[in-house]
Amino acid sequence: MTDLSPEDIAKNAAAEAAVALVEDGMRLGLGTGSTAAFMVRRLAERVQAEGLALRCAATSQQTADLAEAQGLRIETLDEIAWLDLTLDGADEIDPDLNLIKGGGGALLREKIVARASDRMVVMADGSKVVETLGAFHLPVEVIGFGWQSTKALIQRTLDRQELEHRPILLRQRDDQPFITDEGNLILDLALEEIHDAARLAAALNAIPGVVENGLFLKMCGLAIIGRPDGSVVELTAEGSAEAEA
Ligand code: 5RP
Repeated sequence: MTDLSPEDIAKNAAAEAAVALVEDGMRLGLGTGSTAAFMVRRLAERVQAEGLALRCAATSQQTADLAEAQGLRIETLDEIAWLDLTLDGADEIDPDLNLIKGGGGALLREKIVARASDRMVVMADGSKVVETLGAFHLPVEVIGFGWQSTKALIQRTLDRQELEHRPILLRQRDDQPFITDEGNLILDLALEEIHDAARLAAALNAIPGVVENGLFLKMCGLAIIGRPDGSVVELTAEGSAEAEA
């Protein structure tokens, strides 16, 4: 591979290290985003070189299309039912490996797939590592029916929790509302710092019309962080199987 930017070298290094965790016979969840795209490519190379027998479910149509173009067979999560390992990217990673995800709009399927996995490993470049979650907009997937009322209720929730925020934005793509793989909308919450992520996540998901939020709490046991020189560092969550190993 030539002409990768330093950021892409870091993403690819993290992806390659994550793919090294894959073992023959595994049932895998394939994440979404640019780092996950490196992972899919590196995984396809290993499958071709080593003849690994894997079962793979994708977290988005975008990833399914890429994986199939690379020669990987994609099955539905229902066909596989449970996964050994999910490899995904993230928008923010805090010291406890709590995450913000959904920058690519796939947070709902990503959360379902990660929850249906024995392990979730996140791959990222160093820019994603933060002390406190919240600088990256928090995506919330909502159904189209009554979305403006849902937005008003989200606004009220943020005010009650005394969270500093800018106006809540309906995500757009090509000047049209962005539609998720499940046919829903995304509201992006521009917060500053989320000090009680569990409280916020619970309150958001209690609002009718909210399908899921982009806070992935206590789901990830290992984060592999790539560096622009191609090396990686591993971060483990306290109390996780990885930290105890
Ligand atoms: C998609 C996601 C992605 O994993 C996240 O946005 C990171 O993407 P990238 O690897 O392109 O930075 O959550 O919904």
